[in-house]
Amino acid sequence: MEEKKDIRILAIESSCDETAAAVVKNGREALSNVISSQIDLHTLYGGVVPEIASRKHIEKINYVIQEALDQANVTLKDLDAIGVTYGPGLVGALLVGVAEAKAISYAAKLPLIGVHHIEGHISANYIEHKELEPPFACLVVSGGHTHLVIVRDYGAYEIIGRTRDDAAGEAFDKVARAIGLGYPGGPKIDRVSREGNPDAVHFPRAKVEGAPYDFSFSGVKSAVLNHINGCRMKGEEICQADIAASFQKAVCEVLVSHATEAVRDYHMPKLALAGGVASNSALRCMMEEACRKEKIPLYYPSPILCTDNAVMIGAAAYYEYQKGVRHGLDLNAVPNLRLGER
Ligand code: KG4
Ligand code: ZN
Repeated sequence: MEEKKDIRILAIESSCDETAAAVVKNGREALSNVISSQIDLHTLYGGVVPEIASRKHIEKINYVIQEALDQANVTLKDLDAIGVTYGPGLVGALLVGVAEAKAISYAAKLPLIGVHHIEGHISANYIEHKELEPPFACLVVSGGHTHLVIVRDYGAYEIIGRTRDDAAGEAFDKVARAIGLGYPGGPKIDRVSREGNPDAVHFPRAKVEGAPYDFSFSGVKSAVLNHINGCRMKGEEICQADIAASFQKAVCEVLVSHATEAVRDYHMPKLALAGGVASNSALRCMMEEACRKEKIPLYYPSPILCTDNAVMIGAAAYYEYQKGVRHGLDLNAVPNLRLGER
């Protein structure tokens, strides 16, 4: 019997403030994972500055790709395809990765596969959980997106819930700024919350009328701001750790209840978490507990694969490759690309 050929994909990710490249084998094994983060640079401005992000991507991308090839011990000749994030994200940032991928595809005569960034986040779960296969429900919680997705098959998604206002990560970042923790807020809130009382302040758990799986985080964000103003007017000092822990609990409770309800209602056999906020320790802990009670197998990637990286893009690109998806050299960056669109 002929042995199945291994498929090696070079993947590129540049949709926001991380310039990343990786080589992924058969959609499941990371041969390398190189991430050049711009966080320090953007911290000076309290958030991502798109123009700076694009310029930095241009500066770094060739080195990051070379490093990914070197670490994987391969050259372009050993590859089967190039995968690249082409949306959603910052248009200037996306364009750097897309142009680079097209140039390599043309020069090395390799098929080009454009990948949806969220499909990448979901696929990060395939790397460390070799047994995970669709169907499953996935809670995608990142800086730009909060989606409850039914993953029917590889590349077949049904979005059943989304945020009506801020994304979960965005709410973490805004609250962190309000309580003086700075950027990037998520990991900082996660850290200081460990010293705080999650029941110190009761913040609202928002439900969206008639849309049981939708989210809304602007209310909890405003409640935090009102609480801080109230304290200031009374001349009371604010307790950063208590506010952070109470806010985190309010957000995570909603994420947990919506996700487990979706698993039940849609009769899904498993639940996966994805995106930067999926690395939040309280969310992991609360979700673990709820899933244990309800006997739902739970999957989430290591923190380094939760936040933006190219391994997840390589995993997603593999399943597209297997389905025969190929993009032409007219592939463009699509800043508001929808999941499931081509
Ligand atoms: O997935 P990601 O790297 O980028 C997007 O696609 O948006 O997510 C970044 C977001 C940021 O808002 C960041 O504050 C949040 O994920 N984040 C966290 C944690 N680590 C990153 N939020 C809560 N707890 C964390 N430990
Ligand atoms: Zn992301």
